[in-house]
Amino acid sequence: MSKVEDLLHRAAQIDALAEAALLTPNAQLDNAVETSRANGIPPIAVSALAGQYLAIQAQLIGAKNILEIGTLGGYSTIWFAQTGAKVTSLELNPKHRDLAIENCKGLDVEVILGAALETLPKLKEEGRVFDFVFIDADWGEQWEYYQWAVELTRKNGLIYIDNVVRELLESNPELEEAKGSLLAKIGTEKRARATLIQTVSGHKAQVEDRVDGFVLAVVL
Ligand code: SAH
Ligand code: DHB
Ligand code: MG
Repeated sequence: MSKVEDLLHRAAQIDALAEAALLTPNAQLDNAVETSRANGIPPIAVSALAGQYLAIQAQLIGAKNILEIGTLGGYSTIWFAQTGAKVTSLELNPKHRDLAIENCKGLDVEVILGAALETLPKLKEEGRVFDFVFIDADWGEQWEYYQWAVELTRKNGLIYIDNVVRELLESNPELEEAKGSLLAKIGTEKRARATLIQTVSGHKAQVEDRVDGFVLAVVL
Protein backbone atom coordinates (compact mmCIF):
# COMPACT_ATOMS: atom_id res chain seq x y z
CA MET A 1 0.00 0.00 0.00
CA SER A 2 1.34 3.43 -0.88
CA LYS A 3 1.76 6.06 1.79
CA VAL A 4 -1.21 8.00 0.44
CA GLU A 5 -3.46 4.91 0.44
CA ASP A 6 -2.35 4.18 3.97
CA LEU A 7 -3.30 7.70 5.03
CA LEU A 8 -6.74 7.32 3.45
CA HIS A 9 -7.25 4.05 5.32
CA ARG A 10 -6.12 5.68 8.54
CA ALA A 11 -8.71 8.43 8.03
CA ALA A 12 -11.28 5.87 9.16
CA GLN A 13 -9.33 5.18 12.35
CA ILE A 14 -8.93 8.88 13.02
CA ASP A 15 -12.68 9.42 12.58
CA ALA A 16 -13.33 6.62 15.06
CA LEU A 17 -10.98 8.19 17.60
CA ALA A 18 -12.57 11.60 17.13
CA GLU A 19 -16.10 10.22 17.37
CA ALA A 20 -15.29 8.40 20.60
CA ALA A 21 -13.65 11.48 22.07
CA LEU A 22 -15.95 14.27 20.89
CA LEU A 23 -19.47 12.99 20.38
CA THR A 24 -22.10 12.26 23.00
CA PRO A 25 -24.54 9.34 22.75
CA ASN A 26 -27.64 10.37 20.85
CA ALA A 27 -30.53 7.93 20.65
CA GLN A 28 -32.46 9.82 17.97
CA LEU A 29 -29.47 9.95 15.61
CA ASP A 30 -28.65 6.28 16.25
CA ASN A 31 -32.28 5.42 15.54
CA ALA A 32 -32.15 7.28 12.20
CA VAL A 33 -29.04 5.33 11.18
CA GLU A 34 -30.66 2.05 12.21
CA THR A 35 -34.05 2.62 10.52
CA SER A 36 -32.31 3.88 7.36
CA ARG A 37 -30.27 0.72 7.18
CA ALA A 38 -33.30 -1.47 7.92
CA ASN A 39 -35.31 0.24 5.14
CA GLY A 40 -32.58 -0.09 2.52
CA ILE A 41 -31.95 3.67 2.34
CA PRO A 42 -28.51 4.33 0.75
CA PRO A 43 -25.77 5.03 3.33
CA ILE A 44 -25.01 8.54 2.09
CA ALA A 45 -25.96 10.70 5.07
CA VAL A 46 -23.32 13.07 6.42
CA SER A 47 -20.91 11.50 8.90
CA ALA A 48 -21.45 12.01 12.61
CA LEU A 49 -18.51 14.42 12.80
CA ALA A 50 -19.79 16.36 9.79
CA GLY A 51 -23.21 16.51 11.45
CA GLN A 52 -21.60 17.98 14.54
CA TYR A 53 -19.75 20.47 12.32
CA LEU A 54 -23.01 21.57 10.67
CA ALA A 55 -24.69 21.91 14.06
CA ILE A 56 -21.78 24.04 15.31
CA GLN A 57 -22.11 26.34 12.29
CA ALA A 58 -25.84 26.67 12.90
CA GLN A 59 -25.24 27.48 16.57
CA LEU A 60 -22.49 29.98 15.74
CA ILE A 61 -24.86 32.12 13.71
CA GLY A 62 -27.82 31.54 16.04
CA ALA A 63 -29.81 29.93 13.22
CA LYS A 64 -33.54 29.74 13.93
CA ASN A 65 -34.67 28.69 10.44
CA ILE A 66 -32.70 26.20 8.39
CA LEU A 67 -33.42 25.00 4.86
CA GLU A 68 -32.13 21.61 3.82
CA ILE A 69 -32.20 20.36 0.23
CA GLY A 70 -32.08 16.54 0.32
CA THR A 71 -33.59 14.91 3.44
CA LEU A 72 -32.88 11.18 2.97
CA GLY A 73 -33.77 9.50 6.32
CA GLY A 74 -33.53 12.75 8.27
CA TYR A 75 -30.06 12.19 9.78
CA SER A 76 -28.64 15.65 9.02
CA THR A 77 -32.11 17.09 9.69
CA ILE A 78 -31.91 15.80 13.28
CA TRP A 79 -28.46 17.34 13.77
CA PHE A 80 -29.83 20.74 12.75
CA ALA A 81 -33.14 20.48 14.59
CA GLN A 82 -31.47 19.42 17.84
CA THR A 83 -29.79 22.85 17.96
CA GLY A 84 -33.30 24.25 18.53
CA ALA A 85 -33.79 25.52 14.98
CA LYS A 86 -36.83 24.88 12.83
CA VAL A 87 -35.78 22.82 9.81
CA THR A 88 -37.53 22.89 6.44
CA SER A 89 -36.24 19.98 4.40
CA LEU A 90 -36.94 19.23 0.72
CA GLU A 91 -37.15 15.65 -0.53
CA LEU A 92 -38.12 14.08 -3.85
CA ASN A 93 -38.57 10.47 -2.73
CA PRO A 94 -41.78 9.75 -0.74
CA LYS A 95 -40.19 6.75 0.95
CA HIS A 96 -37.34 8.94 2.25
CA ARG A 97 -39.81 11.64 3.29
CA ASP A 98 -41.94 9.18 5.26
CA LEU A 99 -38.98 7.70 7.09
CA ALA A 100 -37.53 11.15 7.84
CA ILE A 101 -40.80 12.35 9.37
CA GLU A 102 -40.84 9.26 11.57
CA ASN A 103 -37.18 9.74 12.56
CA CYS A 104 -37.59 13.45 13.35
CA LYS A 105 -40.51 13.01 15.77
CA GLY A 106 -40.57 15.56 18.56
CA LEU A 107 -38.40 18.05 16.65
CA ASP A 108 -39.46 21.19 14.76
CA VAL A 109 -39.13 19.69 11.27
CA GLU A 110 -41.16 20.17 8.10
CA VAL A 111 -40.42 17.95 5.10
CA ILE A 112 -41.74 19.17 1.74
CA LEU A 113 -42.15 16.45 -0.89
CA GLY A 114 -41.20 17.27 -4.48
CA ALA A 115 -38.35 18.25 -6.76
CA ALA A 116 -36.39 20.98 -5.00
CA LEU A 117 -36.33 23.18 -8.11
CA GLU A 118 -40.13 23.24 -7.97
CA THR A 119 -40.36 23.89 -4.23
CA LEU A 120 -37.66 26.58 -3.98
CA PRO A 121 -39.52 29.22 -6.08
CA LYS A 122 -42.61 28.64 -3.95
CA LEU A 123 -40.64 29.30 -0.75
CA LYS A 124 -39.42 32.55 -2.31
CA GLU A 125 -42.96 33.52 -3.31
CA GLU A 126 -44.10 32.89 0.25
CA GLY A 127 -41.42 35.29 1.47
CA ARG A 128 -39.61 32.62 3.47
CA VAL A 129 -36.11 33.57 4.67
CA PHE A 130 -33.51 31.24 6.17
CA ASP A 131 -30.40 31.65 8.30
CA PHE A 132 -28.65 28.61 6.86
CA VAL A 133 -29.17 26.58 3.69
CA PHE A 134 -27.66 23.08 3.48
CA ILE A 135 -27.47 21.80 -0.11
CA ASP A 136 -27.22 18.01 -0.26
CA ALA A 137 -29.33 16.63 -3.14
CA ASP A 138 -28.64 16.04 -6.88
CA TRP A 139 -25.06 16.99 -7.63
CA GLY A 140 -26.04 18.06 -11.15
CA GLU A 141 -28.25 20.84 -9.80
CA GLN A 142 -25.91 22.32 -7.21
CA TRP A 143 -25.57 25.60 -9.10
CA GLU A 144 -29.33 26.09 -9.40
CA TYR A 145 -29.78 25.25 -5.71
CA TYR A 146 -27.04 27.71 -4.82
CA GLN A 147 -28.75 30.49 -6.74
CA TRP A 148 -32.01 29.84 -4.89
CA ALA A 149 -30.13 29.60 -1.61
CA VAL A 150 -28.65 33.08 -2.16
CA GLU A 151 -32.19 34.37 -2.78
CA LEU A 152 -33.57 32.71 0.33
CA THR A 153 -30.82 33.43 2.88
CA ARG A 154 -30.66 36.48 5.12
CA LYS A 155 -27.64 38.78 5.17
CA ASN A 156 -24.73 37.10 7.02
CA GLY A 157 -26.52 33.76 6.70
CA LEU A 158 -24.65 30.66 5.56
CA ILE A 159 -24.86 28.31 2.60
CA TYR A 160 -23.12 24.92 2.65
CA ILE A 161 -22.85 22.76 -0.47
CA ASP A 162 -21.92 19.13 0.17
CA ASN A 163 -19.90 16.87 -2.16
CA VAL A 164 -18.44 19.63 -4.31
CA VAL A 165 -15.07 17.95 -4.84
CA ARG A 166 -16.54 14.57 -5.76
CA GLU A 167 -18.87 16.28 -8.21
CA LEU A 168 -15.90 18.10 -9.72
CA LEU A 169 -13.87 14.89 -10.02
CA GLU A 170 -16.81 13.11 -11.68
CA SER A 171 -17.84 15.89 -14.05
CA ASN A 172 -14.34 17.05 -14.97
CA PRO A 173 -11.83 14.29 -14.10
CA GLU A 174 -8.97 15.99 -15.94
CA LEU A 175 -9.69 19.22 -14.02
CA GLU A 176 -9.43 21.14 -17.25
CA GLU A 177 -9.93 24.87 -17.42
CA ALA A 178 -12.92 25.24 -15.21
CA LYS A 179 -14.89 28.03 -16.85
CA GLY A 180 -18.32 26.40 -16.76
CA SER A 181 -17.63 24.59 -13.51
CA LEU A 182 -19.64 24.96 -10.35
CA LEU A 183 -16.72 26.72 -8.65
CA ALA A 184 -16.31 29.20 -11.49
CA LYS A 185 -20.02 29.96 -11.44
CA ILE A 186 -20.04 30.39 -7.68
CA GLY A 187 -17.20 32.88 -8.12
CA THR A 188 -19.39 35.01 -10.36
CA GLU A 189 -22.11 35.28 -7.70
CA LYS A 190 -21.15 38.51 -5.99
CA ARG A 191 -24.02 38.48 -3.48
CA ALA A 192 -22.08 35.94 -1.44
CA ARG A 193 -18.49 35.20 -0.42
CA ALA A 194 -17.56 31.55 -0.78
CA THR A 195 -14.70 29.18 -0.11
CA LEU A 196 -13.92 25.52 -0.77
CA ILE A 197 -12.71 23.24 2.02
CA GLN A 198 -11.35 19.89 0.91
CA THR A 199 -12.03 17.01 3.27
CA VAL A 200 -10.90 13.46 3.87
CA SER A 201 -13.41 11.37 5.70
CA GLY A 202 -13.28 7.89 7.11
CA HIS A 203 -16.92 6.93 6.89
CA LYS A 204 -17.03 5.87 3.23
CA ALA A 205 -16.59 2.19 2.40
CA GLN A 206 -14.77 2.99 -0.86
CA VAL A 207 -11.41 4.58 -0.24
CA GLU A 208 -11.69 6.77 -3.35
CA ASP A 209 -14.91 8.26 -1.98
CA ARG A 210 -13.09 9.52 1.09
CA VAL A 211 -11.71 12.56 -0.67
CA ASP A 212 -14.36 15.23 -0.94
CA GLY A 213 -14.97 18.87 -0.04
CA PHE A 214 -17.64 21.41 0.58
CA VAL A 215 -18.33 25.01 -0.28
CA LEU A 216 -19.21 27.35 2.55
CA ALA A 217 -20.55 30.78 1.67
CA VAL A 218 -21.78 33.80 3.59
CA VAL A 219 -24.45 36.01 2.06
CA LEU A 220 -23.37 39.65 1.88
N1 SAH B 1 -28.92 15.36 3.90
C1 SAH B 1 -29.03 13.91 4.08
C2 SAH B 1 -28.53 13.17 2.86
C3 SAH B 1 -29.25 13.51 1.59
S1 SAH B 1 -28.96 12.34 0.30
C4 SAH B 1 -28.20 13.51 5.29
O1 SAH B 1 -27.04 13.91 5.36
O2 SAH B 1 -28.73 12.79 6.15
C5 SAH B 1 -29.75 13.12 -1.04
C6 SAH B 1 -31.27 13.14 -0.97
O3 SAH B 1 -31.72 14.06 -1.96
C7 SAH B 1 -31.93 11.79 -1.30
O4 SAH B 1 -32.87 11.46 -0.30
C8 SAH B 1 -32.65 12.06 -2.63
O5 SAH B 1 -33.87 11.35 -2.76
C9 SAH B 1 -32.89 13.56 -2.54
N2 SAH B 1 -33.08 14.21 -3.84
C10 SAH B 1 -32.51 13.85 -5.03
N3 SAH B 1 -32.91 14.69 -5.98
C11 SAH B 1 -33.75 15.59 -5.42
C12 SAH B 1 -34.49 16.70 -5.91
N4 SAH B 1 -34.43 17.06 -7.19
N5 SAH B 1 -35.26 17.39 -5.05
C13 SAH B 1 -35.31 17.03 -3.74
N6 SAH B 1 -34.62 15.99 -3.22
C14 SAH B 1 -33.86 15.28 -4.04
C1 DHB C 1 -22.96 10.13 -1.89
C2 DHB C 1 -22.61 10.95 -0.82
C3 DHB C 1 -23.33 12.07 -0.52
O1 DHB C 1 -23.00 12.90 0.50
C4 DHB C 1 -24.45 12.39 -1.28
O2 DHB C 1 -25.12 13.50 -0.98
C5 DHB C 1 -24.83 11.59 -2.34
C6 DHB C 1 -24.07 10.45 -2.64
C7 DHB C 1 -22.17 8.93 -2.21
O3 DHB C 1 -21.25 8.62 -1.45
O4 DHB C 1 -22.46 8.29 -3.19
MG1 MG D 1 -24.05 14.66 0.49
